[in-house]
Amino acid sequence: MFRDLVDDLDNYSAEPGKFLDVPFVPTDGNVVEAMLTLAGVGPQDVLYDLGSGDGRIVVAAAKNYDTRGIGIEIDPLRIADAMEYAGDTRVEYLVDFIEDDIFTADIREATVVTLYLLDSINAQLRPRLLSELRPGARIISHAFGMGDWKADDQCKVDGINIYKWIVPAPVAGAWEWAGLDGKRYRIDLQQKYQEVGGDAWVDDEAALLQSATLCGATLELTIQGADAVAPKGFTLEFEDHELQSVVEH
Ligand SMILES: C[S@@+](CC[C@H](N)C(=O)[O-])C[C@H]1O[C@@H](n2cnc3c(N)ncnc32)[C@H](O)[C@@H]1O
Repeated sequence: MFRDLVDDLDNYSAEPGKFLDVPFVPTDGNVVEAMLTLAGVGPQDVLYDLGSGDGRIVVAAAKNYDTRGIGIEIDPLRIADAMEYAGDTRVEYLVDFIEDDIFTADIREATVVTLYLLDSINAQLRPRLLSELRPGARIISHAFGMGDWKADDQCKVDGINIYKWIVPAPVAGAWEWAGLDGKRYRIDLQQKYQEVGGDAWVDDEAALLQSATLCGATLELTIQGADAVAPKGFTLEFEDHELQSVVEH
């Protein structure tokens, strides 16, 4: 596997003097397909492959799912290969390959990011992925984790782990709203990535925040009031660090 190969490969591109943070090792076809399936890509997505090599992930997403894609690659020779491959596959109208560094390239437009890098590189990219991608964007990594950010989903193909994360909205803090019962619901949330917990009050009386599940910008809560017969469920939507809407069910 890649991890075993890394020690045997030097990290220089064929272009003299260009140092690569990760050597070029292409993802096998079966794994590419599994990554795109785990991402759930479609025509509405914009996929960025960070360190796009010969362009195979971006081209496969365009060819099989009509997904617009951008490859970010530091090695100009790989960019030339990827452009040629996109032309041969007749998807050049859907894709672009940009010679840039994964640590500085603008990735804000991406709804899906694919990675075949290293644990350490993923961990370095993590703050940017969390702050620059929109809540709900999916990140798919071939073989490598993301430090203490646990994956939301994963699968295994040909013995290789593939991980998926969904970028969570920032929801920590105090929020309140009026329930359909006329009572005032208040919560104070702590957050670590997609994991959320905290305290709740109903009309200023301590209540139990029974569950809190965050997926992108959507937070599902159940709150058990001290004198209520059953817990109440709420779906909260966040946008730009603000609570946008609450639906009670
Ligand atoms: C393991 S290969 C993965 C190629 C492709 N994503 C795939 O899965 O088939 C990693 C790629 O990252 C590129 N790379 C390394 N450091 C980079 C950097 N700082 N910025 C952009 N690309 C980089 C390498 O040139 C190489 O093509």
